[in-house]
Amino acid sequence: MERKYIIRGGRPLKGEIEVKGAKNAALPALACTLLAKGNFLLKNVPKVRDVFCMLKILEHLGAKAQFEGTNLQIDTSGIKRTDIPYELASQIRASILFLGALTAAYGEAVIPRPGGCDIGKRPTDIHEKGLSLLSAELDFKHGNIITRAKRLKGAEIILDFPSVTATENLLMAASLAEGETILKNAAKEPEVVFLAEMLSEMGAEIKGAGTDTIFIKGKKRLHPLKIKIIPDRIEGGTFLILSSLFPENEVIIKNLPIDYLETPCLKLKEMGIEVKKVDRNSYTVKRSKKIWPVEIVTAPYPGFPTDLQPLYAVLLTQAEGTSIIRENLFENRFQYAFELKRLGAKINVEDRVAVITGPTPLSGSPVKATDLRAGAALLLAGLIAENTTTLYRVELIERGYENLPQRIRALGGDIEVVEEENEDSKKF
Ligand code: EPZ
Repeated sequence: MERKYIIRGGRPLKGEIEVKGAKNAALPALACTLLAKGNFLLKNVPKVRDVFCMLKILEHLGAKAQFEGTNLQIDTSGIKRTDIPYELASQIRASILFLGALTAAYGEAVIPRPGGCDIGKRPTDIHEKGLSLLSAELDFKHGNIITRAKRLKGAEIILDFPSVTATENLLMAASLAEGETILKNAAKEPEVVFLAEMLSEMGAEIKGAGTDTIFIKGKKRLHPLKIKIIPDRIEGGTFLILSSLFPENEVIIKNLPIDYLETPCLKLKEMGIEVKKVDRNSYTVKRSKKIWPVEIVTAPYPGFPTDLQPLYAVLLTQAEGTSIIRENLFENRFQYAFELKRLGAKINVEDRVAVITGPTPLSGSPVKATDLRAGAALLLAGLIAENTTTLYRVELIERGYENLPQRIRALGGDIEVVEEENEDSKKF
């Protein structure tokens, strides 16, 4: 079955949309449950494809998982294997997050090396180097990373790049290692800080999370816990763009983690867009008719998040002049530009730089999602384009956004989800 969204643009959007739990905090949290045996309760978990895939892997390993609303019960007392099947691991890059936890808690792991994806090669050398410094033996067979370790030993590790999931993997591994580990050039994302908090509440001893040097004193054992997943700053940023595209209609964003969005809000301010507090943790945007072009340079946190550049690109098609986006994290994150051009946008890409000229009225056309955030960007573009936009490969959007069409319909948007048989095989 192929699913697509039919978006009829130009409808005014008004009302409230709530930010859900962070996908990129939930995924490491799921891997982290392997570090202790027993019953976990994770609250505010987003029901997105990436979470479901990680749960299938946990169940394959022997865990039991059960959703009750957005609360997720996980029982890890029955873990009985440490190998992850290719057909599950190849669906999700975050499967690499099981490497550190399995090696630390069970002394071994067999993880298919997650292939590259639409946005870039996405190697795992920093994960692998860090684990071998922690005295794991690594082997590579048939595309699998195979680890073995009686007990990991603490070490000083300098990451070649502040990789988010590599920092998370090594945090989990070091928490059960013997002795002290120092992670230098560590990632500082809020999701890394959240994982450190989760580990600390499980009994780990961690200092410095959120800075580029993290100290971990390994423990023999950790214990399960209850914890609430932090709100999703990238979904929040997506809704700030949505609100900015419909300023006259006032879209209010509930539960916006504004503290995690300092740089994106600063960039909106440069564009002439003010983020205004409505009440305790609800916000909307105020902007004049014209918005100004800007230069965006993506960087590790607290720099401008690479995950939001495709969404800002859509808004910049409406700015009065020429904007630049420099993508420094991933080598192939502008594939959406070709699709935006089909909607009439003036965007040209040269290597890792996109040049966008506006304001350009967009008009509907068939387009496809090229990755998760690009898909969300094209959906928003369809909402401001005149006529109808048909968006394909929407399963990529559903990896990271829960029920987006329904939530946008609740604001008055005209977006229809259509399932159709894959006709090709029948015709020939
Ligand atoms: C995390 O991916 C996020 N995913 C990504 O979000 C996000 O775009 C990225 O961080 C950057 O913020 C999750 O947290 C599950 P990296 P991750 O390792 O950890 C290089 C989304 O849309 N690198 O920080 O895989 C790599 O090539 C997704 O939700 C190595 O060279 O990103 C890249 O250039 C997309 N060797 C840079 O680091 C390694 O071993 C940043 O990658 C690892 C990474």
